[in-house]
Amino acid sequence: MANFKRKYPLSRLRRLRSNKSIRDLVAENKLSTDDLIQPIFVKESIKEKEEIESLVGIFRHSETSILKEIEELVSLGIKAVAIFPVINEDKKDEKGSEAVNENNFLNKVIKTIKQNFPEILVIADVALDPYTTHGHDGVLNSDGDVDNDGTLKILEDQALKLAQAGTDIIAPSDMMDGRIGSIRKILEEKDYKNTMILAYSAKYSSKFYGPFKEAVESAKFFGNKTKDTYQMAVANIDEALHEVALDINEGADIVMVKPGMPYLDVVKAVKETFKMPTFVYQVSGEYAMLKAAVEKNWLSEDVIFESLLSFKRAGADCILTYAAKEIAKNL
Ligand code: PBG
Repeated sequence: MANFKRKYPLSRLRRLRSNKSIRDLVAENKLSTDDLIQPIFVKESIKEKEEIESLVGIFRHSETSILKEIEELVSLGIKAVAIFPVINEDKKDEKGSEAVNENNFLNKVIKTIKQNFPEILVIADVALDPYTTHGHDGVLNSDGDVDNDGTLKILEDQALKLAQAGTDIIAPSDMMDGRIGSIRKILEEKDYKNTMILAYSAKYSSKFYGPFKEAVESAKFFGNKTKDTYQMAVANIDEALHEVALDINEGADIVMVKPGMPYLDVVKAVKETFKMPTFVYQVSGEYAMLKAAVEKNWLSEDVIFESLLSFKRAGADCILTYAAKEIAKNL
C-alpha cells in the first residue's frame, strides 16, 4: 500500500462494483454451510418442542424432536451442532453431580444422535452451569467463589463421559485456569486421542448471554450474580491473547472468541497472532437483537448475513450462530 500511486480517473473502483457477477468474482470473503455451526437446546421434561421467547425461531427440543431438527440440518449441509441441555430441576445440586453421570440426559441424547447421524459432528460444552443449583460454571468454595482446582477434577470427568457418549468436539466453556490441559490429559490417558477440543479461550463476562440463560432456564437460579471472577473482563484484549496462548499450549485444537460482533477486534488479533483454527460465537443476545429489529421491520433480514460475513472478514474460520439453519436455507 505504501507506493500506491493509482489515481482517479485511471483508477475507478466503481468499475469492479458495476454488476453482480463481477462483484461476486472479486469478493474477498464468502460464507458457506462449511462456516456455520448450529447451537441446539434440548430439554429433558418435554415431549414437544417449545419456542424460546427471546430467540425468535429457536426452540427447546425434546429428545425426539431434536432428531428431526438434525435431519433437516444435515440435509441443508450443516456439518456440526453444539448441544445444550436443560435438565430436570430435581437433578441439579450444589456440585453439579449430574454432569458426571454417564447416563445423564445429554449423554443419552448424544448417543442417539450419533447412532442416527454418524456424519454430523457433535459439540458439547464442558461447564457445570446446566447442572448446578447456583448456576455457576463450577463448584463453590467457602467464600462462595468458584473453586478453580476443585472444579477441574469434575470437568475432566464430565469431558470423559461426553467423549465416551460419542461427542466429537469437547468445548470447555467454563474459563477455569488449566482446564484444557486437564481435559487433554484425561482424553489421552483413556485413549480418546481423536476427540477434539474447541476451547472457549477468550470468553468474556458479557451481558449478551442473557437470552441463553432464559433458553437453558438458569436465569432464575443465577439472578443478578456475575461470572466476573472467571470470565474475561470486557475491557481487555492482551489478556485474550494470553488465554489463547495457554489453551493452545495445553492442547486445544481450535480456539474461540465469544461473544462475536462486539469482539471482532479480538477475532482478528487471535487469528493474526496464532494462525490457528479460530471460531467465533455469535451469542444469544446478538441474535436476539438482530431478530427483534427484523421482526419490527426496522432492519432488513439481510443484516444477519451481513453480520456473519463480518466474522469471516475478521478472520474467523467458523461461526456458531442461532441463524445457521435459516442462512443455510438461503445459501
Ligand atoms: C455456559 C455457556 C454460556 C453460553 C454458552 N455456554 C453462558 C454463560 O457462560 O453464562 C452463552 C451462549 C449464548 O449466549 O448464546 N457456560
